[in-house]
Amino acid sequence: MEKQEIVKLIKTAKEQLSRAYVPYSCFRVGAALLAENGTVYTGCNIENAAYTPACCAERTAFFKAVSEGVTTFSAICVVGGPDGVLREYTPPCGVCRQVMMEFCDPETFEIILAVGEEDYRIHKLRELLPMGFGPGNLAGWEDDGKEDAR
Ligand code: THU
Repeated sequence: MEKQEIVKLIKTAKEQLSRAYVPYSCFRVGAALLAENGTVYTGCNIENAAYTPACCAERTAFFKAVSEGVTTFSAICVVGGPDGVLREYTPPCGVCRQVMMEFCDPETFEIILAVGEEDYRIHKLRELLPMGFGPGNLAGWEDDGKEDAR
């Protein structure tokens, strides 16, 4: 992935921080998900008074894309911090890694963790979710198991 493209994703993810709905944790997260067709889907975290219905920024972005018919992705950028102040990398939670496993090739899908435009690291999904369970593990399904679901 070219540096220019990475910086653009980081900027887009940062723009989402102001939209995070976080009255309980005050921890703002922004995501920018790059689809294989070049479209970028954005997401922020959305919390709830009942706590458990909270949705992470990453899943917001994935579900927006899938609900619009897009199911193949190449990378996601995630930024986050208390009150939206970026000091450390914000790695995706386990649930979000599992959602990535559903739609992305773990060997190629890139997760860009950023603090700033010049401070980021890139991980493959396989690194962050070793031996993950995906559609291909379901017996009786053809190929990657996703054909029937589309
Ligand atoms: N959160 C995300 O949106 N993405 C992550 O990668 C980690 C955690 C959210 C969930 C919750 O709204 C807040 O950050 C604190 O956990």
